[in-house]
Amino acid sequence: MSVTILGIESSCDDTSAAVIRDGLLLSNVIASQKVHEEYGGVVPELASRAHQQNIVPVIDAAIKRAGITKNDLDAIAFTRGPGLLGSLLVGTSFAKGLSLGLRIPIVDVNHLHGHVLSHFVRQAPEDEVPEFPFLCLLISGGNSQIVLVKSYRDMEILGQTIDDAAGEAFDKCAKVMGLPYPGGPHIDRLAAEGNPNRFPFARPHIPGLDYSFSGLKTSFLYTVRDEVKKNPGFIEENMADLAASLQATIIRILLDKLDKAVKLTGVKTIAIGGGVSANSGVRDAIATYCRNHHLKAFIPARAFTTDNAAMVAIAGYYKYLDKDFCPYDAAPYARVTI
Ligand code: KG4
Repeated sequence: MSVTILGIESSCDDTSAAVIRDGLLLSNVIASQKVHEEYGGVVPELASRAHQQNIVPVIDAAIKRAGITKNDLDAIAFTRGPGLLGSLLVGTSFAKGLSLGLRIPIVDVNHLHGHVLSHFVRQAPEDEVPEFPFLCLLISGGNSQIVLVKSYRDMEILGQTIDDAAGEAFDKCAKVMGLPYPGGPHIDRLAAEGNPNRFPFARPHIPGLDYSFSGLKTSFLYTVRDEVKKNPGFIEENMADLAASLQATIIRILLDKLDKAVKLTGVKTIAIGGGVSANSGVRDAIATYCRNHHLKAFIPARAFTTDNAAMVAIAGYYKYLDKDFCPYDAAPYARVTI
């Protein structure tokens, strides 16, 4: 019997809905919120209001694009956390209301599980998916983790950031350079033209598989501050080299610990996920690393690197198969780990 799941994602500043049937993606609609641009970051209250405006048309579009009606749905999966509470509440409440109306169960999804499981979203039946166990490098604006994925449900964090996330390192340094928020994509674009060896920014020396990006941020800040004292036009004149050197350092930090995790676990498959996995340099570096070490690499299509409901629907699909439904009194949570 075929299973059709509606996924709803509203954890931060993207309202998204997707329909998945038996693991195959039928639709994935995302409404990004432009309202935050002028504030240099996501404003939680504005985000939840925009979710409220977007959620009905986005879900309606996802159902129509999937070529189904709401009566074809078997369950509704929604992001319960982590994220902004006001934003999460919109998706959670809508999922509950719709499920009561349709008399179908709800399934709560951990957003981070969603990023990891996004590799199981098939756009065509022949699409390849990772075999367990695999390592997932989860890199976003809020997380930098190396996750050992043993099954759809069983995931273990082997290492994570002790301070800033990789995305924060991109965004905060980009802010110093006067780039708009979020700075990651701008650094990516500028880095393509620059010399990655021009500025030797600091790399952390912390034991184990944990990450740290705050030292790099400080080193970036001090370099720029010292140079600007000598030459006020320093940033404008060196945009590309600054971006390329920053990106190269972040990639080295990420790969250094990933390599350790590969050696420690002997795992043969690597996946990446989260907003920073859209970065061209990161994608190339992971592909090259995996080729050189005879590992299989799963690099998501760019549409699946940022927050999207397809990953929520697929994570919900596997929970639905386990009959792991969510009670109606379940509240969203701002913080949660894998
Ligand atoms: O997973 P995500 O969409 O949501 C949060 O965790 O908030 O990740 C957002 C992060 C931001 O820090 C953004 O700058 C970064 O992903 N990002 C990138 C690129 N695209 C998005 N960083 C570097 N290069 C990119 N191309």
